[in-house]
Amino acid sequence: MHIHTADSPTQLAKDFAQYFADWVADKERVNIALSGGSTPGKLFRLWGEGYGPDVDWENIHFFWGDERCVPPDDPESNYKMAYDLFLEPLQVPSCNIHRIKGEMPAEAEAGRYAEELAEKLPAENGYPVFDMVLLGLGSDGHTASIFPDQIQLLDSKEACAVAQHPVSGQERITLTGKVLNNAREVVFLVTGKGKQERVREILNQEDTAGQYPASHIHPKNGKLMWYLDQAAAEKAV
Ligand code: 6PG
Repeated sequence: MHIHTADSPTQLAKDFAQYFADWVADKERVNIALSGGSTPGKLFRLWGEGYGPDVDWENIHFFWGDERCVPPDDPESNYKMAYDLFLEPLQVPSCNIHRIKGEMPAEAEAGRYAEELAEKLPAENGYPVFDMVLLGLGSDGHTASIFPDQIQLLDSKEACAVAQHPVSGQERITLTGKVLNNAREVVFLVTGKGKQERVREILNQEDTAGQYPASHIHPKNGKLMWYLDQAAAEKAV
């Protein structure tokens, strides 16, 4: 496990943008699953503004680790955030954008997306392999849309599943644990004081009961990285 810390959320986003540009430079085609929520917004904005070394965006195919079951123009849509902040500004080809269709009936879309992953990505251990998965961390220890009260989604035999936000009840579609742990690289991008307890418990292996889904993310044949700002990292080792 590799831990990278930065003084601020903006610096963290800049550090990751630099890492990402170096990482993709020698690759033909890259399949990456984006995280949602607010944390990746700074990174997406930097990408959209052309920050950092040149990236051959047409070599990169964008998927999502999870999506809210809302239309693509809904402010809650993870796709909309990425589209507005960098996919549209960079004119990323539409054939490189593989969104989860939050506007469709959830169970059917989870099945469709799993089929799209099977068709578009290489497979290992019977599951699709992403070159990189970006993940966030909820203050309850969830990641993607695998919440503590639906932790069985970590072991689902399906590649995608329907989940529900435990507070809002909002339906989500999420990659499941087998796909997340099948990736070549998994990067948690976590910022803010509100996450420091969970980060400490997870990084210090204090989640002995394994109650937090994020504690179970250890890519079998891949690299795990935690990109943390100072506020999120404060209490971890
Ligand atoms: C989502 C995300 C979710 C997010 C965490 C952290 O769709 O909301 O995939 O897993 O990464 O909830 O969210 P923040 O970045 O907003 O703190």
